[in-house]
Amino acid sequence: MLILSVESSCDETAVALVRDGREVLTDCIASQVPLHRIYGGVVPEIASRKHIEAIYALAEEAIKKAGVTRSEIDAVAVTYAPGLIGALLVGVNFAKAAALALGVPLIPVHHIRGHIAANYIAYPDLKPPFLCLVVSGGHTMLVDVKDYTVMENLGGTRDDAAGECFDKVARMLAMPYPGGAALDKAAQGGDDSRYPMPHPKLSGNPLDLSFSGLKTAAVNLIHNSRQKGEKIDIPDLCASFSAAVSEMLIPRAEAALDLTGRTTLAVAGGVAANSRIRADLTKLCEKKNVRLCMPPLSLCGDNAAMIGAQGYYEFLAGNTADQSLNAFATKSMEGEKM
Ligand code: KG4
Ligand code: ZN
Repeated sequence: MLILSVESSCDETAVALVRDGREVLTDCIASQVPLHRIYGGVVPEIASRKHIEAIYALAEEAIKKAGVTRSEIDAVAVTYAPGLIGALLVGVNFAKAAALALGVPLIPVHHIRGHIAANYIAYPDLKPPFLCLVVSGGHTMLVDVKDYTVMENLGGTRDDAAGECFDKVARMLAMPYPGGAALDKAAQGGDDSRYPMPHPKLSGNPLDLSFSGLKTAAVNLIHNSRQKGEKIDIPDLCASFSAAVSEMLIPRAEAALDLTGRTTLAVAGGVAANSRIRADLTKLCEKKNVRLCMPPLSLCGDNAAMIGAQGYYEFLAGNTADQSLNAFATKSMEGEKM
């Protein structure tokens, strides 16, 4: 089954062609990051306008590069939630028009489910059940993937996402948006014990996290040092901060493995590119004798191939939509029938 898939939930317009959920024929991405960089973050209005300018040509390019004809496309999958509403609506409307014109089914895909499905592309033998740590710019959660379309959110952040914190601290250090990758690079060779960071404990669900205190602590440290005219050691601060984020995530991933008894841990989302988190997850999985699936960096960030992968399994489960499909800025990623 050949799926044309579309992703436009934030600042990347992406169109891919994916066969049977696993084989990526093309994955075309038009990134708006340089445009938003001058504002230090995504400007939703600009994102929507840029998606609408880019999407048709990108779809044409994807079909051409894949070497297929329009008549070979069996379905159209699209990210319909969560994300910037204006941005999502561009992709959803495009996908509706494409499905109508091609006379094929329309498949709505939840963005987080898509991130998880990036693992199916990277690991062709991977099948549920498995545990997935989702760490993106907007989400941080531990998901029990019981089946391709049956998932339980076991716990996650109660405030900021891990990526938001990386980006905020990076911005304070004058690193260009989105600063997560730059902060990661700056942390290389730094002393991770130089700047002690808080590790807040929450009451209630032990798998829940809170990153806002950690973010504020790092921001205050930078402010205070500047006010006192003290020089901050950038590699040490970046290494200490990255270690603190990782030390929040790893014990929860371990607890979730113990709770579910899953023998595979997959990772998803842009922050999964972080070298400290990757190294710590590798150690954890070695210790617990658990298989670790970490997609390559190109599949960790937003792309349309992951939407085509999940779209295939949503289709098999009967989760298609008609032309009344709407987009949603927020929506639970747990199983639901459309
Ligand atoms: O999954 P994603 O592409 O977009 C969302 O769906 O949110 O994730 C983007 C996030 C940004 O916050 C970016 O700074 C962060 O992933 N990121 C990283 C690294 N590479 C990307 N954060 C920490 N270390 C990295 N190496
Ligand atoms: Zn994403």
